[in-house]
Amino acid sequence: MSSACYDFLDSAPVIPVIAIENLAHAVPLAEALVAGGIVNLEITLRTEHGLDAIRLINQQVAGAHVGVGTVCNAREFDAAIDAGAQFVVSPGQSDALFERALVTNIPFLPGAVTATEVIAAKEAGFRILKFFPAGTSGGAAAIKAFSGPFGDLQFVPTGGVNIHNANDYLSLPNVRAVGGTWLTPSDAINAERWDDITHIARDASQLGA
Ligand code: 3PG
Repeated sequence: MSSACYDFLDSAPVIPVIAIENLAHAVPLAEALVAGGIVNLEITLRTEHGLDAIRLINQQVAGAHVGVGTVCNAREFDAAIDAGAQFVVSPGQSDALFERALVTNIPFLPGAVTATEVIAAKEAGFRILKFFPAGTSGGAAAIKAFSGPFGDLQFVPTGGVNIHNANDYLSLPNVRAVGGTWLTPSDAINAERWDDITHIARDASQLGA
């Protein structure tokens, strides 16, 4: 059973899922999000800059709580921890990922959208699961249905979540947080409109209140 602490999710139950295309954007983007009250930042390994971005944000952005996303194997898990990731998110799950999470005692959100996947993650010792892709996997209704057989588990839906439907999820007692890419639109990032990002973050930080 994982004894890692997941309390950080309560300080900001909306997590931006971030792909850094230009490393120079990592710090100002993180600063803009933190200024808007969004402090838990999931930096994905979808671009070559993921690990460097985690390092830079950790060193330079006060108040940011940086995690890593799109972690698909143990090698990526270990590299992200070396870079300073404070939580780990995967779109799925594997025995190797479960093992790394338990050995390192880092908060880990394995992905699960079927009852079988939920049982596997629960058996491995995890109680808070990423529900991805939420929109095409039954959405809030599916998570609500999970509260019957899996009343002791909580979910973090991502994939198709946005400012308009986030509260459909956050209003469910078994949803601990939500995530998505809507907080970091690439047009605003490419144009370095950091005030726009802070504005989006501020709106998102009001969700679930
Ligand atoms: C994730 O990995 O959580 C998703 O890519 C987020 O999906 P979204 O772009 O629909 O927010």
